[in-house]
Amino acid sequence: MTPSPQREQRYRHTSAGKNAMHRPTLALLVFASLLSLGLYTAEDFNARGRRHQPPPSPELVDQGGVLVGADNGVGEGMHYAGEDCAVCHTPGGKAGRYVFSIAGTIYEDRFARRPAVGARVMLEDVEGNILTLTTNSVGNYWTTTPIASNPLAVANHGGATTVLYTTNPDGSITPADPSDSRTWQYKAWISHDGATRHMVTIAPVGGATGTTPRMSCTMHHAGMGSSGASWVSSRQVFPNPPASNISFKKHVLPVLSSRCVPCHIPGNRMTRAATSTDIDPLDPTTVDYSDGKDFTSYDGSTVDGVSKDGFRDFVDPGAPDLSEALLKTRKRSDGTVAHAGGGFFDPEDADYRVLLQWVTEGALDN
Ligand code: HEC
Ligand code: HEC
Repeated sequence: MTPSPQREQRYRHTSAGKNAMHRPTLALLVFASLLSLGLYTAEDFNARGRRHQPPPSPELVDQGGVLVGADNGVGEGMHYAGEDCAVCHTPGGKAGRYVFSIAGTIYEDRFARRPAVGARVMLEDVEGNILTLTTNSVGNYWTTTPIASNPLAVANHGGATTVLYTTNPDGSITPADPSDSRTWQYKAWISHDGATRHMVTIAPVGGATGTTPRMSCTMHHAGMGSSGASWVSSRQVFPNPPASNISFKKHVLPVLSSRCVPCHIPGNRMTRAATSTDIDPLDPTTVDYSDGKDFTSYDGSTVDGVSKDGFRDFVDPGAPDLSEALLKTRKRSDGTVAHAGGGFFDPEDADYRVLLQWVTEGALDN
C-alpha cells in the first residue's frame, strides 16, 4: 500500500505528558498557555466552558511538545468526499475493517464546491490530548486514534438528556462506560489558509442517540445542510465586488451565509449538554449560540417557534463604519477580538467592503 498523503499526530497539550521534557520547553509551554485565554483545564471541558475558545497552539507543541504517538490513518481515502463516512466505516458496516474514530471532508466554502487541500483538523479530548489531521487532495481526513472517554458524559439529543454515569445511593459516582462511544468527546477546530474556525459544541464520537456507534463530521456538515459543509478559508466570497449598487440578495446574503454560519442561523441553536456540570440543577448550561440572531435574513425570522433578529437590526446607515455588525466582526489592530464568533474581517477585505458599501447605500432590502 502506498503511504498515506495524510499526516496526523497526537500529543498532549499541557505538561501532563508522561515523557521526559526539557525544562526550558516546559517553562515556555506554561508561559504560553497562561498567555492564551484558551488554557485547557478538565473543569472547563463542558458545553459552556469550551464554547468559543481559541484553538490549542499546535505549532508550539510541534516545536517543543511531547509527542505521545504518531498514528497515521491507513489508506488513500480518496473516495466519497463529502459523504457521511460512518455509513460504511462503522462496526459491522460495509467498511467495517476500517472503523474510524473521526473522519470527514473539509472544504473552502460552505457549499462544498472546493475541497480544502492540506487543511488542518484539530481535536482536543477531555484528557487534553490533542489530535491533528491533515486533509488529502480531495479534502478527506480520517483516523482510528482513540479519543478519551469522559467519565461524566451526558448525551443530549432533541432536548432530552441521558446521563451516562451513575450516581450511587452513597453519593459516589460510577463513571460512564468507556466502551460507549457516546462518551468519547472532543472539541474541534479546523484551519487552512490562515483562517481558523471552531466547532461550537463538544461532540461525541457516537452521536448522542446511542443508535450510531460511529459518526463523521460530514454527517451534519454537508454542503447543502443548514450548518453548511465543514469549511475554512480566508478566501473572499466576492474577490472583485462592484463598487456601488450593492444588493442585499445578490451580494450581502452570500457573504453572510458564508461567514456567519453555523452560528447566526434560524431555528433552535442551543448548545448541547456534554458533561455533569452542564446539567447542574443550580446552574445548568443554557446557551443559544446564535445569540438570537438570524443573519440569513434581512429583518428576522420565526422558525419552529424561535424568533430572531435579522441583519438589518445591527447596521446603521447613519454611521456605517460604527455599525455593530461591522465593529463586531472587524479585526482589531491590537489583535483582541470583540466577538465570540471571531474577528474575521480586515477593513480592506473585499467581503467587508461589500457589507460596508451596502450599509452606506441605505441598507435596503434589495
Ligand atoms: C458507501 C460506503 C463508504 C463510504 C460512504 C466511505 N467509504 Fe471508505 N471505504 C469503503 C469500503 C468498502 C472500503 C474498503 C474496505 C475494505 O477493504 O475492507 C473503504 C476503505 C477506506 C479506506 C482505506 C482504504 C483506502 O482505499 O484508502 C479509507 C482511508 C477510507 N475508506 C476513507 C473514507 C473516508 C474519509 C470517507 C468519508 C469522506 C469514506 N471512506 C466513506 C466504503 C465507504
Ligand atoms: C462561531 C459562531 C459565530 C459566528 C460564525 C458569528 N457569530 Fe456573531 N456572535 C456569536 C455569539 C456567541 C455572539 C454573542 C456574544 C458576543 O456578543 O460576542 C455573537 C454576537 C454578535 C453580535 C452582537 C449583537 C449584540 O446584540 O450585541 C453581532 C452584531 C454579530 N455577532 C455579528 C456577526 C456577523 C455579522 C457574523 C458573520 C459575518 C457573525 N456574527 C458570525 C457567534 C458567532
